[in-house]
This record gives sequence, structure tokens and C-alpha cells, in this order.
Amino acid sequence: MDKSAVLADWISPSTNPVTSIEHFAPSNIALCKYWGKRNKQLNLPMNASLSVSLGHLGTHTRIVPIDYCADEVWLNGEQLLPSAPFCQRVSSFLDLFRQPGSCYFRVTTRNSIPTAAGLASSASGFAALSKAVNDSFELNLTDEQLSVIARLGSGSACRSIFNGFVEWQMGQRADGLDSHGVSVEQCWPGLCVGLVKVDASAKSIDSRSGMQRTVDTAHLYQSWPIQAAHDLVKLKQAIAEQDFTLLGQTAEHNALSMHATMIASWPPLVYWQPESLATMQRIWKLRQEGLNCYFTMDAGPNLKLLFLNDELEALMRYFPEMEVIQPFGNGR
Ligand code: PMV
Repeated sequence: MDKSAVLADWISPSTNPVTSIEHFAPSNIALCKYWGKRNKQLNLPMNASLSVSLGHLGTHTRIVPIDYCADEVWLNGEQLLPSAPFCQRVSSFLDLFRQPGSCYFRVTTRNSIPTAAGLASSASGFAALSKAVNDSFELNLTDEQLSVIARLGSGSACRSIFNGFVEWQMGQRADGLDSHGVSVEQCWPGLCVGLVKVDASAKSIDSRSGMQRTVDTAHLYQSWPIQAAHDLVKLKQAIAEQDFTLLGQTAEHNALSMHATMIASWPPLVYWQPESLATMQRIWKLRQEGLNCYFTMDAGPNLKLLFLNDELEALMRYFPEMEVIQPFGNGR
């Protein structure tokens, strides 16, 4: 089943864009990771995942219908070549909504994520683009439908449709219409995410190829969906009870388990730099000394620290360069 067939009931092929429009979507950090697809074409995951959206840090995307024979894509003030991979991903995503050759857009994307933070912007980018397309074509889709659509652009984008904590329910259907984000209605003022940059250069293997390699070659991967399912239950309990130690332990264990499956792939997939490990060891030592701080990591060398507001001052002394986000405000 291809992407357009999945969306046939939601998008009328005769619809034309009526407006130019701008939307914002937040970046998100997974506490229980999405790693591995059961359907590559539709970005359907092997496991459910859970994230926290990063408030005002994310992507602003404006789309304007243009009288031209190709899309124009601008990223952070620079026009991309039509052959650029991001430009091609954006154009093929827009193809889901238009008749071939019927209309083109200028797509202007600005990331408010600090470039030095080492955060992926494709999740917030495809979520913001989905919201903009919804308004431009007057589709009137619900957030859950938009989450399905964003997932077709980039898996984790389905979580960036929502603020706060978000569960990506893996779904069962072959067409994936039940595989989307759902808002977890719980706030946690004072929860902090600290971005510790180890290396901002482009990653060697993108997450799409990395997860495929893991699924195809790591025997250890078989245990991953089971671990992820357990972690999801624990994280939901931690959020419901505002049990920070349970949240932090589960998120760190989940991230390290995902990295274990990557390392067990062939050729091996090691996203860590020596500095990544050194930072993990510092966190473990600080914990022994009584600081309640944990970390999570994605398909790259940078760390995202998890802690409560009370520890902020102490942690800033150890990580003065750290960028801190409080997704639910500071709780004071
Ligand atoms: O959505 P993608 O293809 O960028 O994959 C995201 C994978 C991880 O960041 C490692 C985990 C996650 O759940 O965000």
C-alpha cells in the first residue's frame, strides 16, 4: 500500500491550495524511543514510543502557492538546490496533496532550535508542514489525522503535532491509520531537558538507514520491542505519579538499550564519541554524589539531560554550555 492510497479518503484529488499559511511545531525528545519499522514505506514502528515536546523550540514553516514549475524550498534563510535531499523529501511529501503538475509552493522553513544543540529538526519540520498543508488545502483534519500525515514525512514527526507528553501508539492496521500520536494529558512544571552538545557535525548514518541496519543484522534487536513496551508502562506511571526517579531511570535505560541494539548491528553502529561516554560517566558520578540527573540520547553523539528545576543551578556549574528547556514552565 502506498502513501497516497492510505490518504485517499481524507484528501480530495480535485482540491487546490487556497491560502499561504505559516505554522509552528515543537521539536520532541523521546523518553521511550522509536527504533525499527514494521513498514518502511509508511514509517510504521515496531514499538510504541513516548516523548516530551520542547515548547517554543521547533520549526516555523510557511507555504505559499507559486506560479512556477517546481517547488522552492528555503531552510534557515538559504534556498536549497532542487537536488538537495531535504528539498526532495518536502516535494514528495507535497505530492501527497496535489494532482501531478497542478501546483507548486515556496516552502520557507526556520528552525528555532539552536543549531548548536544537536537536535534533529525533521520531526518538527514535517509536523509544521503537515499543519500548513492542512490549512492551505482547507482539509480540516483532526490532530490525530495530521499526526498520521506527519508520520509519512518522518516517523517521529507524528509526536511533534502535540505539546507536552505524547504517546505514539504503534497501531495494528496495515494502512497505519491507527498509528499516530496521542496527547498524554499531564503537565510536569519544573521538569528540565538540558542539551549537552558533544559534536554538532552531521551524523554519519541517518536514523532511517541506522534502524534498518539494526533490524536486519542485530539478533539483540529481538528483545527491543519487549523492553520498549515495559518502559512505556513505567514512563506512563512515572508521569501519572510525578515520580522523577522512575522517569529518569526508565528513560536512560531505554536509550542505552536502544544503543546496545545499534552496537550489536553489523557493520557496527556506534553514534557515540569519546566525549559522549565521558559525559555519561560524569552523570553517573554526579548521581552517586546525590544529584538526581539522568540522560537520554538519540542517533547521534549528543546527550539530553533530564532533571528537575531544583538541580538546575548545581548542574549548570558542571555543564555551563548546556541549553535548558522547561517544557511545562519552571513550576515556581
Ligand atoms: O523519525 P526519525 O526517522 O528521525 O527517527 C527517530 C529515531 C530516534 O530519534 C533515535 C528515536 C525517537 O523516537 O525519536
